[in-house]
Amino acid sequence: MEQQFIMRGGRPLHGEVTIGGAKNAALGIIAGALLTDEEVIIENLPDVRDVNVMLEALREIGARVSRTDRHTVSILASEVSGVSVDDEFIRRIRASYYFIGALLGKYQRANVPLPGGCAIGSRPIDQHIKGFRALGSEVQIRNGCVAAEAEEGLRGAHIYLDVVSVGATINIMLAAVLAEGRTIIENVAKEPHIVDVANFLNSMGANIRGAGTDTIRIRGVRRLHGTSYAVIPDQIEAGTFMCAAAASRGDVLIKNVIPKHLESISAKLLEMGNTIIEYDEAVRVIGSVMQRPTDVKTLPYPGFPTDMQPQITVTLALARGSSVVTESIFENRFRYVDELARMGSRIKVDGNVAVVEGVKRLSGASVNALDLRAGAALVIAGLCAEGVTTVNEIGYIQRGYEHFEEKLRGLGAEIELADSERDAQRFRLRAL
Ligand code: EPZ
Repeated sequence: MEQQFIMRGGRPLHGEVTIGGAKNAALGIIAGALLTDEEVIIENLPDVRDVNVMLEALREIGARVSRTDRHTVSILASEVSGVSVDDEFIRRIRASYYFIGALLGKYQRANVPLPGGCAIGSRPIDQHIKGFRALGSEVQIRNGCVAAEAEEGLRGAHIYLDVVSVGATINIMLAAVLAEGRTIIENVAKEPHIVDVANFLNSMGANIRGAGTDTIRIRGVRRLHGTSYAVIPDQIEAGTFMCAAAASRGDVLIKNVIPKHLESISAKLLEMGNTIIEYDEAVRVIGSVMQRPTDVKTLPYPGFPTDMQPQITVTLALARGSSVVTESIFENRFRYVDELARMGSRIKVDGNVAVVEGVKRLSGASVNALDLRAGAALVIAGLCAEGVTTVNEIGYIQRGYEHFEEKLRGLGAEIELADSERDAQRFRLRAL
């Protein structure tokens, strides 16, 4: 049996939870460690599957990777022996595309499988490729792999992104930091993890300006040196716990966060009538008993994150009245609504718009995670539902949440990780 989360809902979450390092920043930073022959130490690294797959892939190509503790890793890439990254796991994660930018930047060549990742839309990488070509690389798709080569080295260029893309912005930065001359990238993504990857590269001696604005300017340097760098807190993990607190009508202090990064999420929870108290490095969410509906539209940062869309939708599914949720980043990100319907929600989807009619209560059911954030949202639903909920296919959730069930249990949730049918059965009997 694949592992499941099994839970009995109905208990408001109470207490304190500490947020880990940002997965999506960590993935870019790990690839960035390839750009120097000196030791790179990364701290506050989340111990989640996608990160561990990236580290394993680094090992496969000859980097020395050692964990000094659960959240700190040392990477020495001086003996990297190949520019082909390929193992069965790397194909499954989206961020494998960062190896193209990093290997191309360092060795002027890369051969990496076309990325996988969560099935939330078509997810092309044309903007990444456009950037690499502008920097002077040939890029071909061969046998399911991206083969890039810059025989005469990379040269700085002026690149305008047609789509605001997190991945393309980071990937082009990775390739351009060691290119000759100046690169200007316009219409870039501004997410906190873009700024974090830029800060990391600058701590290695790169010259990147403007991260966090629409235009990034990079002056190529000849070499990068080692560094010791701590990853920022995960905006989406924090937002997920904020929604869990609100939806369960709980009271939770969420620690180790950057409240500025959470503003779009706080704004929506406030509009719904919840109380949000901000501290320097924490937010407290007090869920209101009677929550109001509100409309949400996902947008690139500083807009409402697409990675929080399923979690806020579940929260709205328990508000009084109807809300409209518009998904404008990924076309296929409402698939979980059918799972949620099994728990008694009333949501109608038409294309990229969901009309959410709030219900008084949800009821426990057996549901499938489908993707990382949808999975987290279904867990929130299960914690608010009457009776027992089983969330299957939790491998997706473990890609991005470290010990999700332990953190929730720390807040008083009745949730367990079931390894076997016997575990699940035992839980159900106890829940009777
Ligand atoms: C990153 O994906 C994140 N993944 C996603 O996190 C997140 O949902 C997404 O950014 C948006 O914030 C990682 O960081 C590993 P994009 P990415 O390029 O880079 C279109 C999670 O749950 N586009 O910003 O793949 C694309 O189709 C996940 O942690 C092109 O058209 O997203 C989409 O509509 C899942 N051409 C939009 O841009 C391109 O070349 C934004 O995608 C690239 C993207």
